[in-house]
Parts: sequence; C-alpha cells; structure tokens
Amino acid sequence: MSLIQSSLRAAYRGIRRAAVLDVKRLLHLPASAEVDQPVPAGYTLAVLGADELERRLAAGTAPASIGIPGRLADGRQNLIAAFSGGQVAAYVWLARDWVSAEENFSRSRHLGTSLQLPEGAVFVHTAFTEPAHRGRRLLGGMLGWARAGGVVGAERMFATMDWTNEPSRRAFKHLGFQPLGLIYRMGRGVIQCSLYPAAAAELGLQVATRCGGVRLAVG
Ligand SMILES: CC(C)(COP(=O)(O)OP(=O)(O)OC[C@H]1O[C@@H](n2cnc3c(N)ncnc32)[C@H](O)[C@@H]1OP(=O)(O)O)[C@@H](O)C(=O)NCCC(=O)NCCS
Repeated sequence: MSLIQSSLRAAYRGIRRAAVLDVKRLLHLPASAEVDQPVPAGYTLAVLGADELERRLAAGTAPASIGIPGRLADGRQNLIAAFSGGQVAAYVWLARDWVSAEENFSRSRHLGTSLQLPEGAVFVHTAFTEPAHRGRRLLGGMLGWARAGGVVGAERMFATMDWTNEPSRRAFKHLGFQPLGLIYRMGRGVIQCSLYPAAAAELGLQVATRCGGVRLAVG
C-alpha cells in the first residue's frame, strides 16, 4: 500500500470515529458465476431458523453478535452458520428484497445503508468468523454450500464492507466478487447525503432508499 493510500485510510478512520462519514466498498457477483469454494474440513454447516437460533443464544453456543431471531420472522433472510465442536464458528446472513440500514452499518448506526434489491438478487451481510477460525475460507465455504444446497439459486449477489476492511474484501475477492465502486454516506439526522456508484443503479440496486437525506448516483 502506498504512503498516500495509508495516509488517506488513517484520515478516514479518524473521520469515521467522529461518526460523520462512512465509506463502503460495493461488490457484485454475477448470477452466472460459480461459487465453488468447498467447506473446509472439520466444520458442519446449517441454515438456522428462529427457534434454533433462540435455543443456541440461550445455551451460549452462538455469539450474541449473530443477531436476533426476530430478524428471521418475515422470511426475507436466511442465516447460515458453520459449527465446530457444537459452537458457531462463523455465520453469514443472506437477504432478498430489501435490507435496512440497521442491518448494514460499519460503526455508526445512523450511517448504515439501506438497500432495495432487484429481483433475483441476494445481499450477503453481517458475515463473521470467530478469530480462531479465520483464514480458512469459511465465508466462501458457507456461500458455496448455500449455492450448492439451493439456499441461494443462480442469483446475482451483492456485498458491502467498510473501505478499510481488507480481510472482508479479500474473502469476497477469492469468490470472484467484482468491485462496483464506493458508497459514501455522510451527515447526521435529516442532513444526510449518500453517493453511490452509477453501476449499482444500472444493475437495479437502489441505495439508501429507507434512509434520510439526498441520494446521488455518481461515476
Ligand atoms: C471478514 C471475515 C468474515 C472473513 O472470514 P474468513 O472466514 O476468515 O475468510 P477467509 O478465510 O477467506 O480470509 C479472508 C482474509 O482474512 C485475512 N485473515 C486470514 N487469517 C486471518 C486471521 N487469523 N485473523 C484475521 N484475518 C485473517 C486474510 O487477509 C484473508 O485473505 P488471504 O487469505 O487472501 O490473505 C472475518 O475476517 C471476520 O469475521 N471479520 C470481522 C467481521 C467483519 O469484518 N465482517 C465483514 C463485514 S462485511
């Protein structure tokens, strides 16, 4: 990474702490793309329903960060988990139709980005791998498993991550996700503005439709 890039990132991290700007990468995987990353050895995978999630949260075999069972109530989302020794080692959420800003923010809830997805598209979000299990392609393994098992059909996929989140960018890059550009969301309260790549709009993805403020497609 060049000195200019690392200085820009350091400046951005400072601004992000002030909770006035969030910059996210937007990535896309075409429907025709293969997702052929295998599940790493030693893990079992499952789609978690609301009841099982509730049981696991109560038993302490799933971390609280995984999310609340109520999120699964409207059938819009699937939750995939990878288990090691009976414990959740990694998880990822797959959403269709729409995504709220609360489900898609980095540091500041008010700078989250809501999305309206085009038909036949899945948004991959809130991916997490426990630190002891990172670097084993569990994220890719979960997505490949979801595709092979029909949880996700031959649908295009979108994902976002904070501009500085290199592990996440790399995990999705290994799967063939392509960068579409950056989403900037800035401001507070009613004075908010979102800039997003025109390429997203061309693919039918509407950005920040459920958030306050002005929205502009750029680039
Ligand atoms: C992003 C994340 C889900 C990736 O999961 P994963 O199952 O480790 O994915 P991968 O095995 O494909 O590893 C991806 C990258 O993580 C990094 N990585 C590897 N081992 C790691 C470790 N022990 N600790 C931290 N990062 C590691 C590497 O950069 C790796 O890419 P590389 O193999 O090309 O060097 C995981 O790092 C994570 O939970 N991060 C915190 C939450 C987060 O940022 N979520 C994403 C929000 S979109």
